[in-house]
Amino acid sequence: MLGVQAYQFNHALTRSPAKSVIDGLRAGDGPNPVFSHFQSQHQAYQKALEDAGLMVNCLAADEDFPDSVFVEDPALCIGGSVILLSPGAPSRYGEAGRLAAHGQRYFDTLIDLRPRLAAGGRIDGGDILLTGREALIGLSVRTNQAGFDALAAVLQDFSIIARPLETPADILHFKSDCGLLDAETIFCTEQLAKSDCFKGYRVITAPAGDEPAANLIRVNDWVLLAHGHPRSAELLDYHDYQVKLLDISEAAKIDGGLSCMSLRYHRQ
Ligand code: GLY
Repeated sequence: MLGVQAYQFNHALTRSPAKSVIDGLRAGDGPNPVFSHFQSQHQAYQKALEDAGLMVNCLAADEDFPDSVFVEDPALCIGGSVILLSPGAPSRYGEAGRLAAHGQRYFDTLIDLRPRLAAGGRIDGGDILLTGREALIGLSVRTNQAGFDALAAVLQDFSIIARPLETPADILHFKSDCGLLDAETIFCTEQLAKSDCFKGYRVITAPAGDEPAANLIRVNDWVLLAHGHPRSAELLDYHDYQVKLLDISEAAKIDGGLSCMSLRYHRQ
């Protein structure tokens, strides 16, 4: 049971965007991000995490992996522990290994899921939503049953129950369409709300047209929300959440969002 630990943190780990980020994976054939804009938006993102009370450590850019700025996909943090995952896109297979080198320095404990995975097992952090009471894990193009099974076994050691869900086929990551607002409240797209995966939670649905806003992150007293969705901002304000808007237009061009640009965790 995580309770408020699902959104109370004192540290974050990020990685600077590499110049190769312009070749980042994307579902469509949209334009490349503009590198200099990506850098400044990433800096503003880190500042917002600091303003929310986190110590932010930023790893050097890794040109070998265009998507490595999305540091949440190859790992999951529980308290001060980091669990190295096994990203599901071939061009990202090596990203967990690159994070391993930093494990001792930034985390209390490092657990490597990769040797525990059955052959072909894959799981992306973008498919894992930790709530106050469980880990909701969306099976997706990046996360399969073997990946789920291996992580669920590790999470038992943290007394966290993992629940598998189906990510709708047109959604890249489960968390592309949802985010945690507090231990018991989830903000999500209409599509996910209708799928019933959040039964028992309080659900606030993003207004139609605001689907990209669903990937928000709660960080201590703040909710970080993608800029450009004023109706979502008003709705969250109405529900008494303190919202900070961030322009992440360049990350969005390669299917990145707010959650995947940091690992947020709590060290004693
Ligand atoms: N570009 C983010 C991803 O596809 O993993």
